[in-house]
Parts: sequence; structure tokens; C-alpha cells
Amino acid sequence: MVNKQIKVPYLDLKASYKKILPQLQTAFTRVLESGMVVLGNEVKEFEEKYAQFSNTKYAVGVACGLDALILSLSSLGIGKGDEVIVPSNTYVATLIAVSRVGATPILVESKIDTYNIDPEKIEKSITKKTKAIIPVHLFGQACEMDKILKIAEKYKLKIVEDNAQSQGATYNGKITGSFGNINATSFYPGKNFGAIGDGGGITTNSKKYYKLILQLRNYGERKKYYNNLIGFNSRLDELQAAFLKIRISQIDDINKKKNKIAQIYIKNLSNVGDLILPKTHQKATHVFHVFCIRTKKRDLLKDYLLKKGIVTLIHYPVPGHLQEAYKNLGYKKGDLPIAEELAKTSLSLPIYPEITSDKLEYVIDSIKKFFK
Ligand SMILES: Cc1ncc(COP(=O)(O)O)c(C=O)c1O
Repeated sequence: MVNKQIKVPYLDLKASYKKILPQLQTAFTRVLESGMVVLGNEVKEFEEKYAQFSNTKYAVGVACGLDALILSLSSLGIGKGDEVIVPSNTYVATLIAVSRVGATPILVESKIDTYNIDPEKIEKSITKKTKAIIPVHLFGQACEMDKILKIAEKYKLKIVEDNAQSQGATYNGKITGSFGNINATSFYPGKNFGAIGDGGGITTNSKKYYKLILQLRNYGERKKYYNNLIGFNSRLDELQAAFLKIRISQIDDINKKKNKIAQIYIKNLSNVGDLILPKTHQKATHVFHVFCIRTKKRDLLKDYLLKKGIVTLIHYPVPGHLQEAYKNLGYKKGDLPIAEELAKTSLSLPIYPEITSDKLEYVIDSIKKFFK
């Protein structure tokens, strides 16, 4: 039993960088000495490694995960007048990407147990305007891709995976980021596979989309200063690519460690109060980017833990359809009850590879005390 107060951050990036500091410093020096800081060999080499990791033919490094989604939708020709199906329970970036290309996000409820989009609810939201589905592999768990792909095939829809939170997860043994026509991911530092600053990636097996995305990320240039497309400036920079080349060799280990922590939480928090613990679909694997528990007493528990020095987060306090920015979609409170219930009850516990067993025990012990 631990009694004294221990500080437990939600995440400890300093500790994770410290472990690979000499390699990061070498990479930093190499890039500076090359004098090439934008679109050079580091990015090319990282893209090859990331395509290999994702089991796809091609990968493109871009500036961030939001851009990865925007460029993916743009290269599929999705825009004004089109509808794109997204989960009601996701980070708002998924919706923003759809809006940024001029299309309308159509929100479909998630499953109350896995928190991922409910494939059984997709078909009734499909209209003549629907062009694509964005399955978001939320919190680290792969979506039910077999069912989603079948629907896409039936209605001739494109799939853009939002794999920002689940690099390394699988469904039916196949890795996320390899199912869709085009797939987008984020290398935001807090992800299981994060850069040391912003970054994003796109994977695809299509040479056509690959070439288009290469152009779109660099102003739409066909060759230097010759533009046949109105593109973006969305390039992964050389330093981030050099860092990501180091991080990519750690990802399996990070996923394994986070899974181990998740299993300790699950074992020790089962049957505590009214807690609902994360469920993994039998065909999916989970890499626990986020360890989300649910309780009716969420706000009280969050405050209690904070007073004990334990930082938790809420993913996400306001569902997309109730965000002020999305008033124009016309949803009102009560329209998407599962997303609203998740927003009211979800709490994400600290989960990072460097968490010590003392800290983990302290978090578990504190939660048990709260419910006593
Ligand atoms: C599900 C999801 N999609 C997209 C993004 C956007 O990624 P980024 O922050 O790199 O733009 C995030 C990032 O936080 C995310 O969690």
C-alpha cells in the first residue's frame, strides 16, 4: 500500500527522449551537416521504412495528421457537395479534414464497448452524395475493417483510414493503415509513434494516389516552379524524418509496454465501483495509445486524482456534433446519445512506457480508494 503523494504525469516525453538522446543528437548533427533540411534523403528513407512497416507500397511524409487527412481526401477528388462518413466519437481533426476540402461530415455512432464506429449503423447514413468513409482506429484499437470494406465495396465508396492513434494495431492480422484506398496518420509527439514536433504520414498501394500526394504536399509542383495543381505546403521536414527513423525501431516495444500497462490496469480495476474498462474486439489488437475508463462519477474521480498528483485527460469532453464550430451541421443535444454518453463518462489514465510500477500502483490504489 502506497500512502505518500507521488506525481504522475499523463505522459512523460522527457523520459522517452532521454533514452535515445545520443541517437537523436547524432541524427540532428547529420541533418545539420548535410545542409539539406527540407525534402531530402532523410524523408525518403523514412518513407521507405514507414511503407514497409505499414505493409503498403508507398508512404509520404507530410506536416501533420490533419494535413494527411486533407491531402488524402483531396487526392480522391472529394470536395464541395460530397458527404463523408465519420465516427461521432473521434478527435475533431477527422471532421475538420472533411470540412477543409469543402465536403460535409456525416456522423455515425460508435459502439459503446469498443468506442469505434459501429459498422451496422453506416448503411443508413449513406446517400447519393456519400463519397467516402473514414474509419478512425480510436485510442489504439483497429476498427472492424471487414464489415466496413464490404459496405464500401457495395456502395462504391472510398476508404481513408484515420490511423493517427493506432500505428501497429491489427484487424484480422492485417496492420492498420493498409486497408484503405489512402490512409492518414499523425506523428504528433504524444502518439505511440511520435516525432519530436509535428508530423504526419500517408500510406497507399496506389501509384496514382502516391504521385498525386507527392505533388500536393509541395505546392502542386510537377517540377520545380511548374505547377499544374493548386497544392499545399505540407512537408515532413528532414529533422523530424531523421528522428522518426530512430523512433520507428522502438514502436513495437512501445506498443508492447503500453499493452502490458493496460493489462495491469484491467486486472486491478475490474469490478471496482461502476468502472467500465476498455474492450478489445476479438479480431482486433489494441496498442493503447489511450487507456480510457468510464464512470458516472468521472468529474469527481478526475478531481480526486488530480488532488493526489495524478494527471488524467478526457478524450473528448465535447463530441463533434456539439462543438460550436459545427453548429452548421444542425445537430442538437440528444441526437447522438452514444457519443454524448462517452463524452460525459470517459477518463483517460496515465499510460506511457516509462511509468514506474510505484506510480502505476499509486494510480490503481488511488482509484480504488475513491470508490471505497
Ligand atoms: C484521430 C485523430 N485524427 C487526426 C489527428 C490529427 O493529427 P495532428 O495533430 O498530427 O494534425 C489526430 C491528432 O491528434 C487524431 O487523434
